Amino acid sequence: MGFNIAIDGPAGAGKSTIAKRLAKDLDFIYVDTGALYRALAYAFWNRGIAPDDEEAIAKACEDVSVALAYENGVQKVLLNGEDISAYLRQEAVGNMASSISVYPAVRQKLLSIQQEIAEQENVVMDGRDIGTCVLPNAQCKIYLTASARTRAERRYKELIERGEEGDIDVIENDIKERDHRDMTRAIAPLKQADDAVLVDSTSMTIEEVVSAIEAEVQKRK
Ligand code: DC
Repeated sequence: MGFNIAIDGPAGAGKSTIAKRLAKDLDFIYVDTGALYRALAYAFWNRGIAPDDEEAIAKACEDVSVALAYENGVQKVLLNGEDISAYLRQEAVGNMASSISVYPAVRQKLLSIQQEIAEQENVVMDGRDIGTCVLPNAQCKIYLTASARTRAERRYKELIERGEEGDIDVIENDIKERDHRDMTRAIAPLKQADDAVLVDSTSMTIEEVVSAIEAEVQKRK
């Protein structure tokens, strides 16, 4: 097993920014597991499958292939061999990913992809159930959170920087809905693992969060 760092937390807590920085500093591989759920959501969406059609989703899981590839340390998600990474960051894909992530067929399909890479490599893996289900033996587990308003403000800023439009109250409501769905689903809900360190980034800078987590990693190396 590689050295595994698991970072879980709600949408918009800054997990990917922080995980990427850690991976760079430590020379680990960054694994964005949300992108795997987004890739399946994108595949179902393109086939016109509704997020509440569990039967069609379970069937589609059988003939869709999802894989991770790395190019210069940057993660790419391959759907049936095609790099679809560029289409995954839209809010609609994220919301659909949250909806379809409640189904056992979806979670089962993605579990081994995540576990295999962590077995072979030193990874910083972020998601919702990494410390609790995917990598229960991870050497370092972090639960990264921030207030819903702060997370909405960060998302809004990202949208504006990309030249897109957004309404901060709508974003905050979407975030709260997504939190609720992710935290209350029956299988592998978002929750802090018993042995995870809680980091609340509401009034912390990126640098402060990275330093706090690196200190935790050093204690466990
Ligand atoms: O982290 P993200 O916003 O890219 O994740 C999109 C959705 O995928 C998230 O709302 C729930 C689901 N997800 C999950 O169920 N388990 C994970 N380990 C990662 C993401």
